[in-house]
Amino acid sequence: MKKIGRKVPFEELSEQERKLLRAAKKTMENAHCPYSGFHVGAAVSANGKVVPGANVENAAYPESCCAERTALFGANTLGCGDCCTAIAVVARSRDSPTTEITAPCGSCRQVIHEFAQRSGVDEEFKVIMATTNFDKIVITKIGDLLPLAFGPKNLIPEERKNENRIEIPSIS
Ligand code: THU
Repeated sequence: MKKIGRKVPFEELSEQERKLLRAAKKTMENAHCPYSGFHVGAAVSANGKVVPGANVENAAYPESCCAERTALFGANTLGCGDCCTAIAVVARSRDSPTTEITAPCGSCRQVIHEFAQRSGVDEEFKVIMATTNFDKIVITKIGDLLPLAFGPKNLIPEERKNENRIEIPSIS
């Protein structure tokens, strides 16, 4: 199996990476997860800002939202949707710490891909995943988590990007 990402001890992380992980872990405590008991916290790096998000579940299960998307949509709300470069994810299962890192689900990978494109970092968008106690930390990039992604470039080919004129048909 292809190895994805690199395992990094907490002490070797950059200041920004530590900040993101700590914010994600703190935000995990704000999860609304009465159905799964799985508390997830995420933190996005957006132009120097750290934007947090927690998972929010709903009695109508599909209406729930993951921590990663909550954080990214929050960054967008703050006007930072086009300056997001990294995300950290931490979780716990009820009162137990996780023994494996928590990786973003498929839907979140798709949304991260779009924010990465908007922010100009494309496949390099950093994804930091850790166990609750930071004893395992893996750093990877969205390009490795979602290869061959479908994205905005598929809908708007590069050569038509600046074409926003409306064609008005002539009458005569
Ligand atoms: N969840 C997240 O918030 N992020 C992930 O990366 C994995 C799953 C949430 C969704 C749901 O509220 C709970 O965890 C159990 O799946």
